[in-house]
Amino acid sequence: MFEWKAEYSCQIAEIDKQHKRLFELASDLYDIATLDDDYDHYDEIMGIFQELSDYTVYHFQYEEKLLDEYGYDPLQGKLHKLEHGSFVKKVTKIMQEDLDKNEQQLLKDTITFIGGWVAQHILETDKNYSEFLNQKGIR
Ligand SMILES: [Fe+2]
Repeated sequence: MFEWKAEYSCQIAEIDKQHKRLFELASDLYDIATLDDDYDHYDEIMGIFQELSDYTVYHFQYEEKLLDEYGYDPLQGKLHKLEHGSFVKKVTKIMQEDLDKNEQQLLKDTITFIGGWVAQHILETDKNYSEFLNQKGIR
């Protein structure tokens, strides 16, 4: 369902690797959430959801630290952190308030939202730091 594409590349190997992992987790999640069998996959789903959420936080911190370390433009850096922060807040809220309802449609919508957000964030926000970090020798 969600796949990392060459156009998502930020020209930094470690960042691309982390982005690929995010898509992989979202895709696994979607596959399990849409399984049409007679089993209840709720625990499995929540497990992967937690993994995705933890990995997202790890990845955002990695990016933010890199940008701080190399002296990225303060305003751009701040806006970037704000985007990360509001996304984490939104996903945390969904996890706490909505997902325990165990509704497949809600789960599908949530995963689609996450996949779409990540793709858009990479294309519109992450790509802005590629050149800056490349010039600092980060590839
Ligand atoms: Fe980012």
